[in-house]
Amino acid sequence: MNSIVIAIDGPAASGKGTVSKAISEKLKFHYLDTGKLYRVIGAKYLEGHEPISVAKNLKTDDLDNYDLQKPDIAKAASEIAAIPEVRASLLKFQQNFSRKMPGAVLDGRDIGTIVCPDAKIKIFLTASLEARAYRRYLELQKTDKELKLETIIDQIKERDERDKTRSSSPLIAASDAKVFDTSNLSIKEAIDHVLYYIQTKI
Ligand code: C5P
Repeated sequence: MNSIVIAIDGPAASGKGTVSKAISEKLKFHYLDTGKLYRVIGAKYLEGHEPISVAKNLKTDDLDNYDLQKPDIAKAASEIAAIPEVRASLLKFQQNFSRKMPGAVLDGRDIGTIVCPDAKIKIFLTASLEARAYRRYLELQKTDKELKLETIIDQIKERDERDKTRSSSPLIAASDAKVFDTSNLSIKEAIDHVLYYIQTKI
């Protein structure tokens, strides 16, 4: 028997992480936030390490050693994520993870298109730039009171643009993905909508 794979992709701050985690808990599936893999390589790149060799030697312990939410790490992550050799090195790990029984939820940018093109369920979560930036603003403001909403709008716009236009595994909805726009939904509503859809498919 194969594992049931749920691929959840979408742009920055679309709520993928929160929705994916909640769904994995509800279904008792394994959960992988693939953005963390790129963020940890981005963090090491900022320390002066060479991203391709970091990607080749990445250990899962590394994922807990950094404050991966910082905006400069997000930016570095999207820069190193455009390097084909970095992506290739992470592919096997993600694909092996997706085979965990009874199922796995993976969130990222290219799960439904490249990492798990045969996933049983593919979801593309999106929301307006303003809605996404505002959510990230509320989150980051807890630790950085000086932070401005306009700065976050610019950072997210820049990151989305880089993720969408790179030649290696760009951010795009798989043709067979179900698209959800969460701009006007609370987190609970977004989780309920996605969960309902998943339950109709499995
Ligand atoms: O999802 P998150 O915002 O943590 O991802 C950080 C960056 O990692 C993204 O902006 C993107 O460039 C990269 N990424 C990717 N492919 C994935 C997950 C993340 O390119 N599957």
